[in-house]
Amino acid sequence: MKSQILVVDDEPVVLKALERFLTEQGCEVTPAENFDKAVKALEGGRIELALVDLKLGDRDGIELVQHIQKTSPQTACIIMTGHGSIDTAIDAIKAGAFHYVTKPFQFDDLLNLVQKSIEHQRAREENRQLKKQLNLKYGLENIVGVSDGIKSIFDLVDKVADTDSTVLLLGESGTGKELVAKAIHYNSRRSNRTLVPVNCAAIPEDLLESELFGHVKGAFTGAVVTRTGRFEMADGGTLFLDEIGDMSPKLQVKLLRVLQERRFEPVGSGRSVEVDVRIIAATNKNLEKAVKERTFREDLFYRLNVIPIRIPPLRERKTDIPLLIEHFLERFSRENGKKMPQVTPECMQMLSRYSWPGNVRELENAVERLVILKTDQIIAVKDLPEKFLHGGGKIFTSVNIPDHGISFKNVVNDFENELILKALEKTAWNKNKAATLLKLNRTTLVEKIKRRQLEKVILS
Ligand SMILES: Nc1ncnc2c1ncn2[C@@H]1O[C@H](COP(=O)(O)OP(=O)(O)OP(=O)(O)O)[C@@H](O)[C@H]1O
Ligand SMILES: [Mg+2]
Repeated sequence: MKSQILVVDDEPVVLKALERFLTEQGCEVTPAENFDKAVKALEGGRIELALVDLKLGDRDGIELVQHIQKTSPQTACIIMTGHGSIDTAIDAIKAGAFHYVTKPFQFDDLLNLVQKSIEHQRAREENRQLKKQLNLKYGLENIVGVSDGIKSIFDLVDKVADTDSTVLLLGESGTGKELVAKAIHYNSRRSNRTLVPVNCAAIPEDLLESELFGHVKGAFTGAVVTRTGRFEMADGGTLFLDEIGDMSPKLQVKLLRVLQERRFEPVGSGRSVEVDVRIIAATNKNLEKAVKERTFREDLFYRLNVIPIRIPPLRERKTDIPLLIEHFLERFSRENGKKMPQVTPECMQMLSRYSWPGNVRELENAVERLVILKTDQIIAVKDLPEKFLHGGGKIFTSVNIPDHGISFKNVVNDFENELILKALEKTAWNKNKAATLLKLNRTTLVEKIKRRQLEKVILS
């Protein structure tokens, strides 16, 4: 699909040059030499990106960006400015621009930015569409993601929600197992009954049995009243057995029996209770390995592993990272009564490259911290804690190629930027030493820093 770009500049020479260049790159360009023509061009609703000059005769480019934000939020904006003061940049980004470039700029750099903002815009739009369909179907508005990994989870949730099949959710810590368990329950016919969670790792072993099955008064010391267990509370609904991999062998036997017979006896009672519960279990342990090591019963494993859903770690679905960041930025800004900050493209790149060992939970916490500590509205590389600057320790990080393709030039360009920034950080911004580290001539390095406007990253 051709990118639809609106170029707004009151200098005819610049306008013409940009139009020619972007058309050559395969974009469909609409030129506009003033504010009013730009507004007119936006009316069709097809424009994906507006490249806006800061000065438009007697009008202001920032004003146009604000107008676009209001009337055509699906359009991304990049501001072009003649003088790259930080104030202008902040104003542009506050108004909702994706980024800004300082004239004169290299066309390659501009193209890079254009492609990035269009990729981002398309991912956002795809997520919105996906949600629109899903909202009708199941109201999964809390689950953010467009990666193939997340899409196949949506599919599975869709398929299993309305059955009574036992589901086993597998995935590293923080990948969203609980979120998916909720999605399954709330999209099932049991949604008007309760979802009862039990954290098998948090409850001491000797209490877990009565927690699950209940007890009668006097069943053991301390059992002063009769208590209903979680199984019974979940009758007609769903029982979520979280951290199932941490259940003691003794309880595993009891649980297996209940799952087979759908009935159990509360502790100390001769009465047997029959229940109708749907089981969803979750663990971050490798249960197959635990079965081999004989810490988890094989028969119980097969009982639970009817429909396994494996949630991939975040590092295997990097396309979701920018969307998750936006999602949490929006949420934490709202909760803290702050205006939502914008993340510079360089900073977003760094966050996307990080390996996120704590998965979505780690990302959620990182964004909360950024929102709380931030006083202005731009989150740049310098705001990131140290750990993000090293991309998780790998030199070659794996690249995900989205369905709509990826720009070879951008990826290579980003990688070069990262190498340069890392060398600079390592040498406390000493260009001589950084050049030596990268086995480059100093002049080559300085030239690259200038051309890529990396100084701005450093300063911003
Ligand atoms: N795809 C997602 N979209 C939005 N938020 C998500 C997503 N996945 C996870 N989260 C959020 O990340 C946090 C961790 O998710 P959750 O508690 O479901 O993970 P978990 O797999 O159960 O982790 P653990 O194994 O540590 O219990 C939650 O706050 C959850 O809302
Ligand atoms: Mg959990």
